[in-house]
Amino acid sequence: MVNDTSVSLTTPVMATYSRFPVTLVKGKGSYVWDEQGKQFLDFTSGIATCNLGHVPDVVKEKVEEQLQNLWHCSNLYHIPNQQELAALLTANSCGDQVFFCNSGAEANEAAIKIARRYANKVKGNRSTEVVTFQQSFHGRTLATLSATGQEKIQQGFSPLMPGFSYLPFNDEEALEQLIPLKPAAVLLELVQGEGGVIPANPSWVKKLDQICKDNNILLMVDEIQTGIGRTGTLFAYEQYSIEPDVISIAKGLGSGFPIGAIIAKEEVAKGFEPGSHGSTFGGNPLATAAGVATVTHIINTQLLDHVNEVSTYLDSKLQVLKGKYPVIKDIRGKGLLKGIVVETNALEIVQTALAHQLLILTAGPNVVRILPPLIVTKTEINECIDVLERTFQSMEKGA
Ligand SMILES: Cc1ncc(COP(=O)(O)O)c(C=O)c1O
Repeated sequence: MVNDTSVSLTTPVMATYSRFPVTLVKGKGSYVWDEQGKQFLDFTSGIATCNLGHVPDVVKEKVEEQLQNLWHCSNLYHIPNQQELAALLTANSCGDQVFFCNSGAEANEAAIKIARRYANKVKGNRSTEVVTFQQSFHGRTLATLSATGQEKIQQGFSPLMPGFSYLPFNDEEALEQLIPLKPAAVLLELVQGEGGVIPANPSWVKKLDQICKDNNILLMVDEIQTGIGRTGTLFAYEQYSIEPDVISIAKGLGSGFPIGAIIAKEEVAKGFEPGSHGSTFGGNPLATAAGVATVTHIINTQLLDHVNEVSTYLDSKLQVLKGKYPVIKDIRGKGLLKGIVVETNALEIVQTALAHQLLILTAGPNVVRILPPLIVTKTEINECIDVLERTFQSMEKGA
């Protein structure tokens, strides 16, 4: 079903994705529709991006208003939506200043660049190493795939960018290696998304934070998948009692409008000055209009309470499935970023669910990833559980 080469070979689009044989043309809330009008329940949210559901009215209205006025003007001039979004992000995080870009990879590029430049220019030491973790995913640009702790992402792209070391994730003893390495920064996901929906252990994060503080190492969190309400707080770091020096975000920030950003502490932001970094489209009036509407909606409504309520509900339903089907080994994740660890090919489950008009994802070969929009209802969760139940039943029969 995936690897639809008949499509990729006959279209002018490069075959960089294994696409499912579905063409989506419309979305609203938790649902999307294909060209024939067939409806699908979307529990992928465009991979943790359409957090307010598809085509949310609050964002649509704000972007439509901006479309009437100014689409683009370059960062040589002040952009009110950019100022407003930066103010919202800093008022609701531990950071003080924001740099805007267009994607997650670019946000991590900015994080890596600010860490190096802060080390060089502000701290005045030459330690520019960035430590990341095994199974991590930080993007597809040369620097971010070099930062990524997965060989399959790096294959064929040598030479990789120097300056990265990888430590085992959730391994407290291995953290001791940080001290002699004296890196400029550590970059981590608080729930490894692409790597298999693996939450960081709180005690491990606490130790990491302490080592960073004691050794003048920047703590940078990649919240590209976990941020913007996905885990039940605006940022996942809030659940770990830490105050990162740099937070990278993208995906959910624009509700589907391409935008990325880093939020940095004032001291670290000194690493950048006029001319040291930039992007033509970064923080463009349209993208930041979408960002302002998205973040305003999340913080001015009870949406995060709703996320906590429905994610507990989803969890309880998934636990029931686990009790029934031995092929399910574990349920893990945070908030509405859930992983079902299975003792079988996760892709087969995703394909069967698709045949039942439910969109879900994999995260590696043995994890099914579920990412409903934050606005998901219990009825929609029941619908998803129903399809999963039928999927596991048919697999049991086939076994
Ligand atoms: C944790 C994390 N970091 C970085 C990225 C890269 O983001 P983008 O695809 O927008 O470049 C992703 C994308 O899945 C991600 O999940």
